[in-house]
Amino acid sequence: MLAYARSSLQWLTRSKLPGSLHRLVNKAVLRMSPAIQAACETRLSEAQMSLAADRETETLLDELPSETTPRERRFLFNFFAAVWSGGNVLEVGPFLGGTSRSISLGMLANPRRDAASRLHTFDRFSHYYGGAQLVETLGPFLQSGKLTEGTCERIKATTSFREVFDLLHAGQPYSSILKTHTGELPERASEVDQSEIQFDPSHLSSLDSVFVDGCKSWFGTKYFMQQVVEKTQPGAFYILQDYGHYTCFWVPAFVAAFRDRFRFYGHVDSTYAFQLTSPIRAAEIETRFPDEPDGFAADELDRLFATIVADATAASDWLGRVAGRLQHGAALAYVGREDDALRLMEDELRCVVRRAPHFEKMVRRAMHSPTYRPNGGSGVPIVLTK
Ligand SMILES: C[S@@+](CC[C@H](N)C(=O)[O-])C[C@H]1O[C@@H](n2cnc3c(N)ncnc32)[C@H](O)[C@@H]1O
Repeated sequence: MLAYARSSLQWLTRSKLPGSLHRLVNKAVLRMSPAIQAACETRLSEAQMSLAADRETETLLDELPSETTPRERRFLFNFFAAVWSGGNVLEVGPFLGGTSRSISLGMLANPRRDAASRLHTFDRFSHYYGGAQLVETLGPFLQSGKLTEGTCERIKATTSFREVFDLLHAGQPYSSILKTHTGELPERASEVDQSEIQFDPSHLSSLDSVFVDGCKSWFGTKYFMQQVVEKTQPGAFYILQDYGHYTCFWVPAFVAAFRDRFRFYGHVDSTYAFQLTSPIRAAEIETRFPDEPDGFAADELDRLFATIVADATAASDWLGRVAGRLQHGAALAYVGREDDALRLMEDELRCVVRRAPHFEKMVRRAMHSPTYRPNGGSGVPIVLTK
């Protein structure tokens, strides 16, 4: 009941009702029951704060096309302004840099920032959107004169967005702390050392925080963590944008495989933050986390996702619970247990229809296509139902 009340309130804050109406309903519900009020308190209070910023920052946070929600970008800004302890930060998967900007503006606003610390952002900077879609997405910047026809022609021909990324982040208050690197994560073990632009953070010594939005495959996640994890010490934050996306089942699977080393900090929408509690060695990843999900025995894979769902349920986190069940289904579909996947998601559908109807659409989408296989671009969907 409490979890449902909390989930409904969270849904209300995301809906398009005017802010004053939100506040009124929230207040009324919370006044009715101190128990509901307690259940609504998340561990995020310190970082989430108001999920707002001053007007000038708000404008910057919303200026770039982004695949993150406005609330996620405000969370990143507030987190780096108030919680981050001031050292180097690594981001993978900035796309056009909506998240890079949120992080670096937060870093600039943080009095603990070490003058030498930087945000190192890595992306393969191509083969994500098709050329025409990318140019359409950038339309407003072409109209405002920030981009030229020549840049757009090059984007169309190559799908590369490195040039436009550099343009969008030049001359900004945070430009000097943003260091951009072209780097591609191998998506399968057989791709290691095959790319001329392979992700390589070896020149970075230590990292305080890591923001992940570019681990779009099981193996890519493993490879990324192996390259990065020894650069972080206990206390470092891992902020994982895809944790609450059902398609990216590999992200929560990794955290669950090292559940003894990560402490859940909090989440905003599908971005989940964890704090490293004790070191992880790259060699341990090799033994604990197989190259592909079918490297886990069937019952191990089931146990992994049961843990993810149980942890989310214990935290009264409905998104995490529903996404965890769908991620379990996605993993099963990926390893060829399609009937089991459908059965599990049908069961979840019955549950959300009764108890959290605002998740129904998401469950139905997952039942159609729960995940995708990597293909060097945006992935090939696995389709279960027509
Ligand atoms: C969901 S988008 C990131 C959205 C972004 N954080 C924002 O603020 O809008 C995912 C990004 O990951 C990058 N990416 C996907 N697969 C990758 C890979 N194997 N190696 C490097 N980058 C990759 C894509 O190029 C894309 O920019």
